[in-house]
Amino acid sequence: MNKQDYHFDYEVYESIDDLTEDDKWLLDEAREVTQHAYAPYSGFKVGAVAKLSNNEIVAGSNQENASFPVGLCAERVVLASISSLYPKVPIETIAISYFNNNGESNHPISPCGICRQVLQEFSEKTKVPIRLILGGMSGKVFIIPNASMLLPLSFTSTDLQ
Ligand code: THU
Repeated sequence: MNKQDYHFDYEVYESIDDLTEDDKWLLDEAREVTQHAYAPYSGFKVGAVAKLSNNEIVAGSNQENASFPVGLCAERVVLASISSLYPKVPIETIAISYFNNNGESNHPISPCGICRQVLQEFSEKTKVPIRLILGGMSGKVFIIPNASMLLPLSFTSTDLQ
């Protein structure tokens, strides 16, 4: 028997004010884009704004449905848009924020399991890690250098070969 260790490093900032100007701008955009969410059922509005390596900016927000499982997270909306608008262009950074109609929005949230799988597939396709900036409307900010680190032992295309 052999024990394996898994760990990853990420950065924790006390507030948006401690970020670089570029990162601050992107997180501010994500905060604004939360207002484009269609979230009448949960009241939990998520915004995701990506900066691509060609300098394009693409935004997405969660889109819910009366048939609940049909709803899409902001992350998958933005990833599908990027893949459709700019196929094969790598993503440098995605900023993700949220506004909770029913509670606080003062700490970072991180992508759900399905979105982690989609992030993994995207960076595998472009061969470039996706950096994440995670923060609410206030409070601490996390920077995760490589979204794939959120999905250890992931199932990927190589497993299908
Ligand atoms: N949601 C996202 O858009 N991204 C996340 O990272 C977590 C959850 C959405 C899905 C649903 O519309 C609402 O937030 C509540 O789960």
